[in-house]
Amino acid sequence: MTATLIDGKEFAARVRGQVAEHVARLTADHGIKPGLAVVLVGEDPASQVYVRSKGKMTVEVGMNSVEHKLDVDTSEADLLALIAKLNADPAIHGILVQLPLPGHLDEDLVINSIDPAKDVDGFHISNVGLLGTGQKSMVPCTPLGCLMMLRDHHGSLSGMDAVVIGRSNIVGKPMAQLLLGDSCTVTIAHSRTRDLPDVVRRADIVVAAVGRAQMVPGDWIKPGATVIDVGINRIDAPEKGAGKTRLVGDVDFDSCAAVAGAITPVPGGVGPMTIACLLANTVTACCRANGLAEPEGLTA
Ligand code: GUN
Repeated sequence: MTATLIDGKEFAARVRGQVAEHVARLTADHGIKPGLAVVLVGEDPASQVYVRSKGKMTVEVGMNSVEHKLDVDTSEADLLALIAKLNADPAIHGILVQLPLPGHLDEDLVINSIDPAKDVDGFHISNVGLLGTGQKSMVPCTPLGCLMMLRDHHGSLSGMDAVVIGRSNIVGKPMAQLLLGDSCTVTIAHSRTRDLPDVVRRADIVVAAVGRAQMVPGDWIKPGATVIDVGINRIDAPEKGAGKTRLVGDVDFDSCAAVAGAITPVPGGVGPMTIACLLANTVTACCRANGLAEPEGLTA
């Protein structure tokens, strides 16, 4: 391997440390404790793990964590009523509704019922519009984490060629907006892109967010490029024993690391940054709600 490893686990711990410092100052100087409400509908096991982890880290950085666990058959009216209550609660600065929601609930309607100022996921249509027009917004956590790692590694991203593989509303599109905001020349590639290998070979920065295990091989990577792997895919790992599995990203790590200048591993790359950025967004939302200075380096 020749690439520098971008250690998301270590970086995320640093971000949480900065958040904790800011929270401590808010509490000591202003008597304010930021509060994050997480709403989980149903019992999806992966979502339960995420929500537990979010709650634990929220408390660790000194913020209040409120969890609302609702039955899988909760009506849309009941969910909207809870969100309205949280919107009106001055002790709650961030609201996250865990996705995916059960099929009978309209995800767009639910997300757009959150007060945009408390939308720490950055999924509300107002925040999407603000980000797209370069205005102050709440920024989706995973792309924000990727941007922080890229800025930390490169300093300025200005003029770099960036290719984002994947066009989801949660990662691909906001990632492209953020890179554009940092003056990259941005291409969004996706499943219908013609000559995908050649498109990726032009990139100084590759962000892979397609959800397909090890899809990007090393011979698509320009020598020295920076590779940010957003994918988390579980694959069979017979080498570890019968029935065993392991986590891999959307890029083939070994072949890409042999060519890239820098690369994020899976696990331990982008993943830990997502919750760290959720905490950062919550403290940012709290500062804005109270007309106080925002933490530096924790926003786009
Ligand atoms: N489910 C998986 N990732 C996320 C996320 O970042 N936010 C929300 N709300 N749900 C998710």
